[in-house]
Amino acid sequence: MTQIATHHRQLIFSPAIRIFHWLRALAIVVLIVTGFYLSWPFLVAPESSDVLVQGWIRFVHLIFGFVLTAVTIARCYLFFFGKSKIERNSLKDVFSLQSWITQIKSYIWMGHLHKVGVYGPLQYVTYVGISAAAVFMCITGLVLYANVYHEGLGGAIWEVSAWFTALMGGLAQVRTWHHIVTWAFIIFMVIHVYMAIWSGIRFKHNSVDSIVSGYDYHKDH
Ligand code: HEM
Repeated sequence: MTQIATHHRQLIFSPAIRIFHWLRALAIVVLIVTGFYLSWPFLVAPESSDVLVQGWIRFVHLIFGFVLTAVTIARCYLFFFGKSKIERNSLKDVFSLQSWITQIKSYIWMGHLHKVGVYGPLQYVTYVGISAAAVFMCITGLVLYANVYHEGLGGAIWEVSAWFTALMGGLAQVRTWHHIVTWAFIIFMVIHVYMAIWSGIRFKHNSVDSIVSGYDYHKDH
């Protein structure tokens, strides 16, 4: 008689976490594309200069820049104070040498990946790193913004922006680092998508699906 394996499902990502994930993904892609255009505006406005291609691209960059800033703040709050403890629990794995060894071994097909929380230690450290990079991009982006728009929010953050600009050694440095760190997101995205698909296949768990549906599936024993 063939036995049918049954599974039970577990909600791992709340709707807020899933919505913020995809908002961030969209914002980052748009920011990379528009940001590179701002750095190298290759489209020359035909005849008249009031076509303002650069201005419109900067407008889109800023809209998504503010989306990313808002999501970064909200996501930070949820990490520390959200109802679900699953992400905070992953910290236990980061401080456990055994978890690191288990994760690295599981990546070379030696054993399974057992985690206390929802992320493995290597994955966790990578996410903390990319979140820190996002905070850096939001700060440097807002500093660049304050230098273009002097009223409203730009005016309100002018003093702190001037302090930050001096700290970084001038506005050119702020802009250069805003550009360089863009590459961290490009490299992250390629590895992130690859690993999400790979780990879903390798560990036979919901991986990409769970950040859409929120659920992971476990085999009943
Ligand atoms: C992952 C997030 C981001 C990426 C990948 C990104 C990328 C870029 C790049 C490549 C540039 C061109 C730099 C150069 O001149 O070489 C740029 C410029 C700029 N970015 Fe971002 N950016 C991000 C987030 C933000 C945020 C959050 C804001 C503001 C809220 C922002 C505001 C600006 C401004 C004001 C400029 C200068 C525009 C100009 O001078 O015309 N960026 N960005």
